[in-house]
Amino acid sequence: MADELTPETPEEEQPKKKHKQRKNGLYPGVSDELAESMRTGWADTELHGLEPIPQAAHTAARRAALSARFPGERLVVPAGRLKTRSNDTEYPFRASTEYAYLTGDQTENGVLVLEPTGETGHSAAVYLLPRSNRENGEFWLSGQGELWVGRRHSLTEAEQLLGIPARDVRELAEALTEAEGPVRNVRGHDSVIESALTDKVTKERDEELRVYLSEARAVKDDFEIGELQKAVDSTVRGFEDVVKVLDKAEATSERYIEGTFFLRARVEGNDVGYGSICAAGPHACTLHWVRNDGDVRSGDLLLLDAGVETHSLYTADVTRTLPVNGAFTDIQRQIYDAVYASQEAGIAAVKPGAKFRDFHDASQHVLAEKLVEWGLLEGPVERVLELGLQRRWTLHGTGHMLGMDVHDCAAARTEAYVDGTLEPGMCLTVEPGLYFQADDLTVPEEYRGIGVRIEDDILVTEDGNRNLSAGLPRTSVDVEAWMARLKG
Ligand code: GLY
Ligand code: MN
Ligand code: MN
Repeated sequence: MADELTPETPEEEQPKKKHKQRKNGLYPGVSDELAESMRTGWADTELHGLEPIPQAAHTAARRAALSARFPGERLVVPAGRLKTRSNDTEYPFRASTEYAYLTGDQTENGVLVLEPTGETGHSAAVYLLPRSNRENGEFWLSGQGELWVGRRHSLTEAEQLLGIPARDVRELAEALTEAEGPVRNVRGHDSVIESALTDKVTKERDEELRVYLSEARAVKDDFEIGELQKAVDSTVRGFEDVVKVLDKAEATSERYIEGTFFLRARVEGNDVGYGSICAAGPHACTLHWVRNDGDVRSGDLLLLDAGVETHSLYTADVTRTLPVNGAFTDIQRQIYDAVYASQEAGIAAVKPGAKFRDFHDASQHVLAEKLVEWGLLEGPVERVLELGLQRRWTLHGTGHMLGMDVHDCAAARTEAYVDGTLEPGMCLTVEPGLYFQADDLTVPEEYRGIGVRIEDDILVTEDGNRNLSAGLPRTSVDVEAWMARLKG
């Protein structure tokens, strides 16, 4: 956008009453006549009788649980602010998970405040930017004026949609500065709120709030499970899209795969839930390969790790490793089938009452057995596992919680997560892999440059588990048949 189109008034500053003609060459001048013209002639577009968003039925219970955990304390949960990319251009905004979880809202600058109503109980309010004032010129002269960024909901509309009283966020920082009593804030999202609270909060107490909100998300409610299934279903379609254009990726690069999946994510959802890993050939051995600028070659494998994030901000996290030309070579199949067997053992260990570590241990056991069987490690298997020798090629943990964040519940205490017990409603990935680096001289040459991961999204149910991503094939034979069908 050219400088000529940049609004003159800095963010949140009220435009001056007297409009002067152009002061310098950068910004347009505003005559009194133009200012007067922009004040009037606009229709009333207030929306009435809005239905609450689907999350509203669930966010009230989440706020009630939060209130019960921190009685008598003011709790401040910001959505976050726009981050500048350069000058007046910002990165795409994504509301903080904590704020969206508790309100269902996703607008920048929003802040949820739970105000204690006594020794127990809180009243909640969501603080938002209101509709732009047209009388004082804010509408078109402020960087956050609706003329520039689009219509916002009025505070009354927001109340109806969210089921929470809504107030003007521009008054919040001062109110928080003046407020008395204990307060906690979710840090890292809103520097204005943090400045206002700087003398009132401690790192330790704020961290307890963050930890609580991470652990509270471990068990998903029915709405969340439905959204996760939607995210996975879109992701399945995104993987199908990719298979259909593999010839175009061969003619260009891994970027064609990234772009193809992204199109599905943006059309059906909000975004991708994390940077897609489109790793062809030896790039599959780089765990966080997101440059995606390499060649896609017939005869190589493609490791695609990607997930659609829904409009409500739940993400899938799925990996398939596919032969670019539709058929595994013998060594590729050998490694793939070992990872599949490992994943089968891992998924079988996901059930209520099992320890979180069980599926990891089950998967790792199978991989260690295979590495010994192939002569890459000296047995016995128990010794290999005790010393962790398989990790040269297994590299990462076998899975993690999944939800609004791809690595969900990441601030949870060890006893509540890694050392914890699985419960119905938890959703996690099971994603074992084997990775033989291209320059690994300890394995025969035919293994080098092959990386395989298979990742599915598994919901813990009352009597075991459900694979949300069962819509994609997992065995090597089924992968080949599926690719043949899609490529026609
Ligand atoms: N896509 C990140 C992960 O699998 O954990
Ligand atoms: Mn993944
Ligand atoms: Mn994962």
